[in-house]
Amino acid sequence: MSQAIEIAPSLLSADFARLGEEVRAVADAGADYLHFDVMDNHYVPNLTVGPLVCAAIRPHCRLPIDVHLMIRPVDRIIPEFAAAGADVISFHPEASDHVHRTIDLIHQHGCKAGLALNPATPLTVLDHVLEELDLVLVMSVNPGFAGQRFIASALEKLRAIRRRIDAGGRAIRLEVDGGVNPGNAAAIGAAGADLLVAGSAVFGKPDYAAVIRELRQTAEGGRIARSAA
Ligand code: DX5
Ligand code: ZN
Repeated sequence: MSQAIEIAPSLLSADFARLGEEVRAVADAGADYLHFDVMDNHYVPNLTVGPLVCAAIRPHCRLPIDVHLMIRPVDRIIPEFAAAGADVISFHPEASDHVHRTIDLIHQHGCKAGLALNPATPLTVLDHVLEELDLVLVMSVNPGFAGQRFIASALEKLRAIRRRIDAGGRAIRLEVDGGVNPGNAAAIGAAGADLLVAGSAVFGKPDYAAVIRELRQTAEGGRIARSAA
């Protein structure tokens, strides 16, 4: 039960000196979500932005903000991101001592909850929580930086999670994050992802609308080819 393919530009690759303008530009270019990467120089070896910047961009567009927490611990900051206008909050299971409680906490604050799986994280982390989740985020790079190369084993992981989501019958979004570009979007769509994050593939390009359209159409084409096979 895949949903329509959606595209979430990752602000990590935006020009931070012109962030409001960049947010408006991707919204006007047809983006479906804003992907907001939060790094703490502890869980991952990079440091980015927090709730203050999330609140600052919130008035610049109506798109849902998809917050990807790459921080440890996670619970304390969740109410702050909810207050800053986050719509979806995803976290890594390795960064929470009580994954089920963290999911509950995100819901209690009125946001959708996602679990983010690193390339080496086994699918067993989904075993007792999949039915609580609104989204599963499959990392196709190791978290920490934009512009890395797509790790192909993510495709098998996407296929396996797609089967589990479909078997459960609930509409859970399947998001892929890292190294996504028009060259691999067909394989990603065929593997069953329905939300594609793209940082450098969008913000590195002169025409945001063209690349967002290309990503969407290519992923849709891959999905159709899979279902026809
Ligand atoms: C990496 C981040 C990604 C990253 C994607 O840790 O979670 O969202 O910004 O950037 P690209 O698309 O350039 O790999
Ligand atoms: Zn991300």
